[in-house]
Amino acid sequence: MAAKWAPESWTKHEARQLPTYPDATALTDATKALGSYPPLVFAGEARNLTAELAKVAEGKAFLLQGGDCAESFAEFQANNIRDTFRVILQMAVVLTYASKLPVVKVGRMAGQFAKPRSADMEDIGGVSLPSYRGDIINDIAFDPAGRVPDPQRMIRAYSQSAATLNLLRAFAQGGYANLHQVHRWTHDFMGRSPWAKKFADVADRISEALDFMEACGISPETVPQLAGTQFYTSHEALLLQYEQALTRQDSLTGDWYDTSAHMLWIGDRTRFEGSAHVEFLRGIGNPIGMKCGPSLEPDALLRLLDTLNPAREPGRITLITRYGHDKIEAGLPKLVRAVLREGHPVVWSCDPMHGNVIKAANGYKTRPFERILAEVRGFFAVHRAEGSFAGGIHAEMTGQNVTECTGGAVDVTEQSLADRYHTHCDPRLNAGQSLEMAFLLAEMLNQELKERRKVAA
Ligand code: PEP
Ligand code: CO
Repeated sequence: MAAKWAPESWTKHEARQLPTYPDATALTDATKALGSYPPLVFAGEARNLTAELAKVAEGKAFLLQGGDCAESFAEFQANNIRDTFRVILQMAVVLTYASKLPVVKVGRMAGQFAKPRSADMEDIGGVSLPSYRGDIINDIAFDPAGRVPDPQRMIRAYSQSAATLNLLRAFAQGGYANLHQVHRWTHDFMGRSPWAKKFADVADRISEALDFMEACGISPETVPQLAGTQFYTSHEALLLQYEQALTRQDSLTGDWYDTSAHMLWIGDRTRFEGSAHVEFLRGIGNPIGMKCGPSLEPDALLRLLDTLNPAREPGRITLITRYGHDKIEAGLPKLVRAVLREGHPVVWSCDPMHGNVIKAANGYKTRPFERILAEVRGFFAVHRAEGSFAGGIHAEMTGQNVTECTGGAVDVTEQSLADRYHTHCDPRLNAGQSLEMAFLLAEMLNQELKERRKVAA
């Protein structure tokens, strides 16, 4: 029998990666205020997402999760939100068109502020200051006062999340995501990319199909699915003081939900057994992601799954694997076999970003696009060999024309990284690279589905 759970029971467990707030009164003031604010999402929406993810676990839908590595206060603008939303829509169209599977769209948006760091301190020119941990905690500027964790930042992050979510809901339901707009979801700067042309071809074919359907009486007016889309939010549940303050009891079911986002995930550095983060997440009703890196052993994974999903509810758990292009084919099969053997109904999703970071000669942290694609290929190859469903992708990406990851059809070179390197943490795919990855995914997914049909026939 599992121990009793409460929103604060994590405080009795070992917590890594949490800031130490120097002013306890200021912390209490901020979390009390947050506790009195309205929830950002409704529990019923989180349950809908679980149901959609259950379809992914069954192989009947695909999960597309993406957005910034870290959202920031400085880059908070309608255009940034729109551009990321738009590139996710474009990717979803490419995937749906090719695979004929529904795509579950989840943004790393409206709350993705807190970052785990490999070192507690950052040293520059003989000065040592606490590391930057995301705008919800401290300031990115290398300045002694700014690096002190400030609880008021949680209030600002909440407001920014509320405004972001409001705009996302408006885009998803207010007409922007209407499939008839598919030709308008293009980005001006993508003219040079061969993938822009390929997308226009797909959009042409979709428009033709829509015209035909309209002639048959099927239009956005008669079928609401054509007029809008479902779009969900997610972030790493890292800053537990914030997550706890937004955890509420659902009045319909009596269950607890973290209402800061629809889906929450545990990072690779905080998912160890007995951790405060695992304790917190086991008690909430939201669908949960878990990052799985090379250090995770199959037995530990199975124990974590028993803790997080004792009822084995399909769609509750998404395992987001992040090995690195050269480690995935050796490391992932043992996890897949253990999970299949024990019959845990998980979604397998590929994070091809976090195992593929390198430092360029000029000092920039980057990710070579060809390594990202190699990890995606490895992910599909492992699942095909093991008989499991390669069900999702988890990417750090933006709709902006940034130069953060090298490679891609419009080649970003190590020399050009400095041109538009804007990320507050890890390097992101730009819109062209994201679309290019979607076409590769579509091809792999199609192959996978063909093989399945062959086996079934
Ligand atoms: C992240 O997703 O931004 C992250 C820190 O990932 P991981 O926990 O897999 O390192
Ligand atoms: Co990251």
